[in-house]
Amino acid sequence: MKTIRDFDLSKKTVLIRCDFNVPMKDGKILDDTRIRKALDTIEYAMDKNAKVVLLSHLGKVKEESDKQKQTLLPVQKRLEELLKKRVIFVNDCVGEQVLEQVKKLKEKEVLLLENTRFQDLDGKKESNNDPSLAQFWASLGDIFINDAFGTMHRAHASTIGIASFLPTGIGFLVEKEISVLKSLFSAPKPFILILGGSKIKDKIGIIKKFAPKCDKILIGGAMAATFLEAEGYQVGASLKETEWIPFCKEMLKKYSSKIILPVDFRCAKQISNQEGEEKDITDLEVDDIALDIGAQTIENFKNHLKDAKTVLWNGPLGAYEFSSYKKGTKEILLYLKDEKEKIKTVVGGGDTVACAMENHLENDLYHLSTGGGATLHYLEDETLVVLEAVEKNNGSNKSQFQ
Ligand code: ADP
Ligand code: 3PG
Ligand code: MG
Repeated sequence: MKTIRDFDLSKKTVLIRCDFNVPMKDGKILDDTRIRKALDTIEYAMDKNAKVVLLSHLGKVKEESDKQKQTLLPVQKRLEELLKKRVIFVNDCVGEQVLEQVKKLKEKEVLLLENTRFQDLDGKKESNNDPSLAQFWASLGDIFINDAFGTMHRAHASTIGIASFLPTGIGFLVEKEISVLKSLFSAPKPFILILGGSKIKDKIGIIKKFAPKCDKILIGGAMAATFLEAEGYQVGASLKETEWIPFCKEMLKKYSSKIILPVDFRCAKQISNQEGEEKDITDLEVDDIALDIGAQTIENFKNHLKDAKTVLWNGPLGAYEFSSYKKGTKEILLYLKDEKEKIKTVVGGGDTVACAMENHLENDLYHLSTGGGATLHYLEDETLVVLEAVEKNNGSNKSQFQ
């Protein structure tokens, strides 16, 4: 796989696809991690005297009025602060203005195009990987570097399309993400998988892939209720997915000694910030909703983690958006932080990483992935559609679109 190191960038116009799809509220960036993680690649290109053109999507753009909410302008401002340098912003991602501004670009200068998904208003050209759009973007530069790890499961014009027209490589962020996630396929044991979150459907791939490889699977979150019901427990009004009970039964039969389920929960009669009550799994009433793992389960999970060398965690163990149901996730995160020297913890999934960030653990766990869907896809398939494009196409498919 070619990386940015393999190219002579000097005096070249280098297009870098980043994933600046950061959480935003009222035009303010709530978490700038994805921007900070893109800096190594951008700064490297600047140091090598490249003219740097950045592309990214932000959110979804379905109608004209979405443009105002989904502008990359706040990202440009944050980038300027982080790079301590002017970042030229073009308030469109196609057209004359773009051509003109890119042409004027000098060595070491950085330019950010407006949200690539603005082109979705024109027949979904970005998301449907329209060849003419990809070709337009490719025409702006000499080299294409894909560093948008979080978007590597999307076959869009700005991700795989451009790679068909230009020499292409990956950036430092993608390189790091892939190397850490790949290491999980032959991770030092004991290897423990922690799963939570709301939907089993989202985790099927990861369960199937890692159940045979790992030593234990600790299950919390809403998905624990479906597993417990499959075991014959009465889980009250907890969020459960009846259609997945047969799958849970099959997994429980096949991996009976590996799968560890909660023995108690913090429950309430409705999902809100109310404190709720801790109950043993055998005591749940029909209107109880299990919203977080209980104290005994937290202890049990810590005990199972004691000898671990590797942990892969996807999905919060409780409804952590509500203050009363953060505890299970937080305690296990802090335990893994304390054991950082012994346990390599890899956290994937947008919500799970947000929990780690909320607890200021960015530098206290082995790896927090910048991908949500991309991380899960890579872990399931050991590849990503955009990675394949970088490997196979690399400017060689020009004729396909001409
Ligand atoms: P990730 O984004 O890390 O992959 P998911 O999207 O799978 O995680 O799951 C996160 C969601 O799961 C959160 O919105 C959280 O509130 C919800 N959740 C976790 N535990 C429960 C629970 N016991 N009841 C209801 N929702 C839960
Ligand atoms: C993400 O946040 O998962 C990526 O940026 C991809 O965004 P999308 O789900 O809107 O395609
Ligand atoms: Mg999520």
